[in-house]
Amino acid sequence: MAFALSQLRVPIIQAPMAGGPSTPALAAACIRAGGMGSLGVAYLDAERIAQDIQQTRALCGHQAGPLNVNLFMFPPPVDLRPAQVDRAEAALRSIAEDLGVPAARLPAAPWHPPLAEQLDAVWSARPEVLSLHFGVPDQALVQRAHALGIAVCVTATSLEEALAIEAVGADFVIAQGIEAGGHRGEFSLSTDTPRGLPSLELVKLIAPRLRIPVVAAGGLMNGADIALALRAGAVAAQLGTAFLLCPEAGTTQSYRELLKATAQQNPRAIRFTRAFSGRWAQGVENAFMQRFDSLDIILPFPAQNALTGPLRSAAAQRHDAQYQSCWSGRELARIREMPAERLMQVLAEEIARHH
Ligand SMILES: Cc1cc2nc3c(=O)[nH]c(=O)nc-3n(C[C@H](O)[C@H](O)[C@H](O)COP(=O)(O)O)c2cc1C
Repeated sequence: MAFALSQLRVPIIQAPMAGGPSTPALAAACIRAGGMGSLGVAYLDAERIAQDIQQTRALCGHQAGPLNVNLFMFPPPVDLRPAQVDRAEAALRSIAEDLGVPAARLPAAPWHPPLAEQLDAVWSARPEVLSLHFGVPDQALVQRAHALGIAVCVTATSLEEALAIEAVGADFVIAQGIEAGGHRGEFSLSTDTPRGLPSLELVKLIAPRLRIPVVAAGGLMNGADIALALRAGAVAAQLGTAFLLCPEAGTTQSYRELLKATAQQNPRAIRFTRAFSGRWAQGVENAFMQRFDSLDIILPFPAQNALTGPLRSAAAQRHDAQYQSCWSGRELARIREMPAERLMQVLAEEIARHH
C-alpha cells in the first residue's frame, strides 16, 4: 500500500531543497518528529542518491516514517549557438576575476545526471514518496512507482498544472504559491517574470477541483500559517525557508548569515531571478543577481546552472554569499533558528492551538 498523507502524525513536509540545504540529518529529524522528510537530489547521481537515502534511514533509527525523494523533470537538451555561449561566458569573466578563480566555461552536455539512472536508485531504495518538480512525468513512471508501493507527487503553480498532474495518476499535488523560496515549479520555461497566486489562494482554487489531496507550499512559517492552509483545503503544508537555519540543514555559513541579516534589516530584498540556473527561482537579492540579471545573456536551464556552478562553489568556499544562490521565500523575516526536531514540535503545538 502506497503512503497516504493522512498517515502523517504532524501534517508537515520538510521541503526538498536541492543544492545542499536538505540533508539526510534534516530529513531524519523531521521524520522522527512525525512529519515527512525530503531529500532534494535533483543534481546528484544514482550512487549519491542511494547513499543519502540509506543515511537518512539509518538516522531515523527504529522510528520509521515517510521519506520523500525529489527529482527534477529536466527539459530535453537544446542546441546552443556558439556565439550565445561565448557571450554568457564573457559576462561571467569579471565575477570569476573578483573571486580569483578561472573563468567559467560551459561543460559539454548533458548538464544533469540522467533521470533514468536517478530513478533506478529510487526504485531500489523504495522511499515512501517520489516527488517531481518542473513538469508531469508520463503515466508509465507513475505506474512503476505504484507497483513498488511508492506514492508520487508533483508541484503545481496553477490549476491547469494541477489537473495535468491528477490526470497522470499522481497521488497528491504540491500547490506552490508565489511566495515560495527556491525554483518555481512552473511547467513552462517562460522568460517573463513569474506572476501567480499566493499559496492559500492557490489551494482554495485547486483543492475543490481535484479528487487527490493538495499540499500548500509558500510563505508558511509557523503553525498559525499552517492552520490557515489546512482550513483553506490543504491536507498538509510543505515548508522550505522555515528550515534553512536549522543546524541540520546544509545551508552554508555565509548563506545563513545573509539570511539572518536580510530577515532583520531588509526582509523585502527577496525576488525572482533566472541568473543562476536559467529558470526562475526566488532568493535574497545579492551582487550576482544585480550584476547578471540586467544582461540579456542568460542561457536556458539547465545550461546556465552548469555554467555558474563552479563560481557558486568557489563563492561558497570563500564564505561569500554575494555569489551563491541564496534561495529564500518571501516570508523570511519570520524565520526561527532552532534544531529541526524542536521546530517541528513548536509548529505542531502552534497548529493544535490554531486549528
Ligand atoms: C533553498 C531551497 C531549495 C529548494 N529546492 C527545491 C527542490 O530541489 N525541489 C523542489 O521541489 N522544491 C524546492 N524548493 C521549493 C520548496 O519545495 C517549496 O516550494 C518552498 O520552499 C515553499 O516556500 P517557502 O520557502 O516559503 O517555505 C526549494 C526551496 C528552497 C528555499
